[in-house]
Amino acid sequence: MKIAIPLATALALGLAAPLAAQADALEQQLDELQDFQIIAHRGASGHAPEHTWPSYEKAREMGADYLELDLHMSADGELMVIHDDTLDRTTDGEGKVKEHSLAELKALDAGSWFNKAHPERADEAYEGARMLTLDEVIDRYGSDVRYYIETKSPERYPELQRALVDTLEANGLVASGSVVIQSFSQGSLQQIHQLNADIPLVQLVWYSPAEDGSGLTEWTGVTPDPAEISDADFQAIADYAVGIGPNVVYDSEDVIDAGFVEQAHDNGLLVHAYTINDPEQMQRLLDWGVDGMFTNFPDRLSGLVE
Ligand code: G3P
Ligand code: CA
Repeated sequence: MKIAIPLATALALGLAAPLAAQADALEQQLDELQDFQIIAHRGASGHAPEHTWPSYEKAREMGADYLELDLHMSADGELMVIHDDTLDRTTDGEGKVKEHSLAELKALDAGSWFNKAHPERADEAYEGARMLTLDEVIDRYGSDVRYYIETKSPERYPELQRALVDTLEANGLVASGSVVIQSFSQGSLQQIHQLNADIPLVQLVWYSPAEDGSGLTEWTGVTPDPAEISDADFQAIADYAVGIGPNVVYDSEDVIDAGFVEQAHDNGLLVHAYTINDPEQMQRLLDWGVDGMFTNFPDRLSGLVE
């Protein structure tokens, strides 16, 4: 539970300076979020196997502002960094992440698949790369990096939100302004907001054509079709989040436009678009005024924003 300490008590306890430093760090993070942010999607996952040390190290070298991490849980309750809910695509294992223990998951090869899938970018060093736990990533980087963490499939892991916030708080990463949390699940974000209202949150949305041909639909129903989105829709998100994270294109067709970005801004929301790998698309979105992009190629984006 978070306990608010009155300033007079903090002064008496000699805590005022640390509390002020924490407030400064959070304020600095929020200030810096007003600038453009390069979010390394699963690390520099265009260059190295996603969610492995090489992917994260390359993202840091390439000037990413945030490392993006997707979370699932092992059978024994460890927070695991992996995108899919199954092991088959990115490891030599199979089946659901949540049906394997931490020890079983750590024994898997999470790197060799990349060399087969991307021979032009293959590297022997990727062979045998291990899946990572959130604790391992935090132990290595601490507050030297910023983390953009997605609660994946939170309905499958009702305890994930609490475990995540506890981990971040125990490591001082909320106070140091080191974390943004994103999710497609409004319920997950609202739960996290209740657990710690200081954590900046971003509501992900996914627009695709409605089956009845009536325009676009949002996957989780958080907003209507962007053509019909109202200030009240954005304000409902702004109640708990600092930003919205939309897909930009579906099947080569734009699903949002510059007007969407402007309206989000007018309602106090940042716009972090995903997942943008093409430099022309990056430049178009920069021209629209988006506040950040998720990309597998942080080097391409840093070349445009420098
Ligand atoms: O987090 C933004 C983006 O990563 C959401 O899509 O499927 O790559 O996690 P996904
Ligand atoms: Ca993600």
